[in-house]
Amino acid sequence: MSRTRGGAGDLQGVIDFVEDRVPFEPGYYNEAYLGRRIAARMQRRDAEDHAEYRAILEDDDEEREALLDALTINVTGFFRDPDMWADLRPVLRELSEENGRGGVDVWSAPCADGREPYSLSMLAADDDEVNERHLRITAVDISEEALDAARAGMYETTRTTDIGDELSPLSDPEAYVEQQEDVFRVRESVRSRVTFEPYDLIRDGPKADMDLVFCRNLLIYIDSEYKGRLFETLRESIRPGGYLVLGKTETVPPDMRESFEPVAKRSRIYQYTG
Ligand SMILES: C[S@@+](CC[C@H](N)C(=O)[O-])C[C@H]1O[C@@H](n2cnc3c(N)ncnc32)[C@H](O)[C@@H]1O
Repeated sequence: MSRTRGGAGDLQGVIDFVEDRVPFEPGYYNEAYLGRRIAARMQRRDAEDHAEYRAILEDDDEEREALLDALTINVTGFFRDPDMWADLRPVLRELSEENGRGGVDVWSAPCADGREPYSLSMLAADDDEVNERHLRITAVDISEEALDAARAGMYETTRTTDIGDELSPLSDPEAYVEQQEDVFRVRESVRSRVTFEPYDLIRDGPKADMDLVFCRNLLIYIDSEYKGRLFETLRESIRPGGYLVLGKTETVPPDMRESFEPVAKRSRIYQYTG
């Protein structure tokens, strides 16, 4: 990692500890993000300063687990940012028509617990003008735990997450999920279009000839040193004429703007012009 290693008494000391002793690569992420997550754990443990928190980490396996959990950015949802999904329909229709015979290749990178790629699979089935059988979705994430949850395809309504509400953009949610009380199981017909695989988007390089790539809500956390490399990976993965979708607060870096034409600017949908 590029940051200089600090003493035990400051934030950098905690970050160094994480790098050495927790299965997480802090060097990928920006310091503001790491600082916020560490500060939240310090508050939970009533640690007065970074040195005290580091001492807790040294002694306490459970705190190391809790910190790993806090550092893993796993927030996601079905149809997160519904306006984007509405703007995506015409793109999907076009791809389905244009690439109908060969298939439409989609990369959901990163996919977290699977709700993003399953949303796409459901949307394709829900839209009369899209042939969902053309869709092949490869969904990747660095977190094995997230991928296990994704493969299981079971989601629960809790105090903070209303799965029924998340599925409301669909005309007939029951066609795609089986509900038992608060638990929603994604049906096999939806799951069969998605393949999950472990992938480090910074280290593992590009895919090829993707028609549509989602890279939402990862770039915001990534340190500027790695952002360019990650964006290169995305660019090389998309065929000319294919599409890229970023998260709501993410943008194409200035030196690549010429190759990405906004299709729906607010929704962060771009066409790669090659
Ligand atoms: C906030 S979620 C985004 C999920 C989904 N795209 C969305 O917008 O709802 C970020 C995901 O990035 C994954 N992640 C973090 N670093 C990664 C890396 N280097 N390569 C692949 N995935 C990574 C995390 O495990 C997490 O599941």
